[in-house]
Amino acid sequence: MQDRPTRVPKNGDVERPNSARLYDYLLGGAHNFAVDRALAEEHIKVLPADEICRSSRSFLRRVVRLCVASGVRQFLDLGSGIPTAGNVHEVAQLAEPAARVVYVDDEAVTVAHSRAMLKGNPRAAIVHADVRDHAAVLGSPEVRSLIDLDEPVALLMFGILPFLTGADEAAAVVAGYREAVAPGSLIAVSHFTADAEPALASAMVELAAQRGTPITVRSKDQVASLFDGLELLEPGLVVVSQWRGDGEVSGSPAAESVSWGAVGRVPHE
Ligand SMILES: C[S@@+](CC[C@H](N)C(=O)[O-])C[C@H]1O[C@@H](n2cnc3c(N)ncnc32)[C@H](O)[C@@H]1O
Repeated sequence: MQDRPTRVPKNGDVERPNSARLYDYLLGGAHNFAVDRALAEEHIKVLPADEICRSSRSFLRRVVRLCVASGVRQFLDLGSGIPTAGNVHEVAQLAEPAARVVYVDDEAVTVAHSRAMLKGNPRAAIVHADVRDHAAVLGSPEVRSLIDLDEPVALLMFGILPFLTGADEAAAVVAGYREAVAPGSLIAVSHFTADAEPALASAMVELAAQRGTPITVRSKDQVASLFDGLELLEPGLVVVSQWRGDGEVSGSPAAESVSWGAVGRVPHE
């Protein structure tokens, strides 16, 4: 793609690399700029960043298919990045054409790319908002028109919670959405950890800090506490590659164990 496509908004920063476009490049997508590609190559020199992204995306696909198979027809994907390379609306709508998907991201260029990609899809949209602002997300025209909060929703938080670095921020974000959704809703999380691969995790944290988007890793107990009061679906909280793995191998054992993942169901009272 061009380095300055016309759909980039005036306030979009195409001179500085950004997490979503970096991730897009690492997944083989075309929605990235030269600065993102250069930084991605720097990352690959010190850690298996492409394998980590593929493993995470494979988890996403398995979770979305499980949600559809469980009868959930609406998805709210928080911190969605660019919906490229087999993202939620493609996987969900392939399995169930009536599935509705709302993406949320706070980064202007990512949102512009997403809007362009979703044009012509009446059942998918993106909200430009900070996920910490529950009212802005849940009250947005996109959520109000595509998501019925009286029916079960799949709340997807893949790779977003590490960006909420405050001690209680991740828990507060999860709790706020959980309170807004109907019983039977599913909450899916993947979260970077240092539990299995501390050196790899510290390289990821350092690189994120260098690019100006600090992240934090959380332990298994910390991630487990995000699911307090939810019914964890089998196999519980495990490294993402082990969550209902379908034999697909996305990377090296190290790359496959940098994130915890689980899906919990909001119980009926
Ligand atoms: C590592 S990417 C994950 C993308 C996608 N969920 C996936 O797993 O393929 C994290 C995304 O979260 C977004 N993000 C970070 N902090 C955010 C916030 N406070 N509100 C909304 N989006 C945020 C970033 O812009 C980025 O697109």
